[in-house]
Amino acid sequence: MAVRINPSILAADFVNMERDLHAISTADYVHVDVMDNHFVPNLTFGPQMVERIQAVSPIPLDVHLMIDNVDRWAPVYAELGCFSVTFHAEATTEPVALARELRKLGARAGIALKPGTAVESYLEILEEFDQVLVMTVEPGFGGQKFIADVMPKLTALSAQRAKTGANVWLQVDGGVTAETIAIAADFGADTFVAGSSVYNADSVPGAIDSLRETARAHQHGNLEA
Ligand code: DX5
Ligand code: ZN
Repeated sequence: MAVRINPSILAADFVNMERDLHAISTADYVHVDVMDNHFVPNLTFGPQMVERIQAVSPIPLDVHLMIDNVDRWAPVYAELGCFSVTFHAEATTEPVALARELRKLGARAGIALKPGTAVESYLEILEEFDQVLVMTVEPGFGGQKFIADVMPKLTALSAQRAKTGANVWLQVDGGVTAETIAIAADFGADTFVAGSSVYNADSVPGAIDSLRETARAHQHGNLEA
């Protein structure tokens, strides 16, 4: 099973975005946190900035929408050609319809769960998604502490993936470091977002490599994704 390391540019220098995108060219995808100061109490950027990020990024975009009105806005990011578009389960009543629309527009469709959101009702519709993002912090800010209490969600998702053969990536986001990535990998995550632990490292490529190596060493390796 593959391991994917997706650095979050929330921890980048926003006025040196192109430089900081090139700094992570050895990573798999660039994680792009879109916040609207409504779904979360923080504000980043919208489609215009994402379009420019995509134009200069050496690696494809993994867009994480922490916004309301996803039925209106998520398709806009798919139309821009973003590789992956993840919306929050808490932000829509029609997750399956929205995921189908994103796929139709050519994007991978992801669904994200806040720490307090139960996974059970999403297990039976797992095949509708290309990615499930299990938040390991409350969404909104970088640099928070990894919440290990949510790991049973990964156990449930991994089991359902094995049972159904769904080709879905299991992503964790928030507080992912050289230490906590091992925990998430042990529980079946394969796609890892890391902001501060990558951008604040002495060597950005070195941090990406060491996260990848640790995740590989801790992966069960019994599933193909
Ligand atoms: C938090 C964002 C994360 C954030 C992670 O709401 O979704 O992607 O950038 O930052 P770190 O890795 O610093 O916890
Ligand atoms: Zn994120």
